[in-house]
Amino acid sequence: MIVLDKINELRDRVKGWKSQGLKVGFVPTMGYLHEGHESLIKRASEENDKVVVSIFVNPIQFGPKEDLSTYPRDLERDSKVCEGAGADIIFHPKSEEMYFEDFSTFVDMNGLTSGLCGKSRPTHFRGVCTVVTKLFNIVLPDRAYFGEKDAQQLAIIKRMVRDLNIDVEVIGCPIVREKDGLAKSSRNTYLSIEERSAATILSKALNIAREKIKDGERTSSNIISTIKEIIESEKLARIDYIEVVDSFSMEGVDTIEKSVLVAIAVFIGKTRLIDNFTYEL
Ligand code: PAJ
Repeated sequence: MIVLDKINELRDRVKGWKSQGLKVGFVPTMGYLHEGHESLIKRASEENDKVVVSIFVNPIQFGPKEDLSTYPRDLERDSKVCEGAGADIIFHPKSEEMYFEDFSTFVDMNGLTSGLCGKSRPTHFRGVCTVVTKLFNIVLPDRAYFGEKDAQQLAIIKRMVRDLNIDVEVIGCPIVREKDGLAKSSRNTYLSIEERSAATILSKALNIAREKIKDGERTSSNIISTIKEIIESEKLARIDYIEVVDSFSMEGVDTIEKSVLVAIAVFIGKTRLIDNFTYEL
């Protein structure tokens, strides 16, 4: 496995693979890799001949008051994870390699990006769509792997690929969790011991909500109230949003009639955590 930081070097390698008819899988990440990322890389290496993992903390998807400067980084450890999971190349560009000083072109999307995380992070998905488009244009993968942990991001990327005729198959992969249910996230490292134990409230609330739907509850507001009550019982937790939306349009639904996404964002202390489940009817 090699680490490359220049776009042209990466392009040359991928061209070489493609000329031999090899299939290329791609896993975009911001690094500080955990078992969630690892599961995507493993899946990519099972389903493709070659795998590229990008590690790039993308400045344009962070809001002015967000954690760009403190976002955790550890390339040495990440390299071991990538190698162990079957990656062939880590693409680790500097910000200057990705963005010219007068960079001025963005990929934006209406609708899907306005609710859920888009509400509290208004420029976030513009940054995600732009960098993922750039990475797709650089790597030219056959398949790209994204986690269901970021369900709205996955829906947005699928829509973007469809709308802009990008020639890549987007594959969603299940959420990997800690033993106590907390969804794995690079941001979990921000949590103090007390906050880490409080953070289990997200998956606990979602599990109970899932059981309620299974038992026949179909009114979204009742599901939302159940989750709200459980999360509010944890004093370190502050709710950003709790929503029940259509899994494809990301629009709120009053009654659960077809596949829905139940998604939440909760601050535990200063750390914002997200979690979700999809319920197929
Ligand atoms: P990052 O947060 O590093 O996540 C990279 C990929 O790993 C995403 O597709 C995310 O959904 C997936 N992932 C994270 N935690 C997971 C978990 N517990 N289980 C399964 N998959 C998980 O998402 C981004 O980076 C960026 O927005 C990016 C797409 C790279 C664009 O900059």
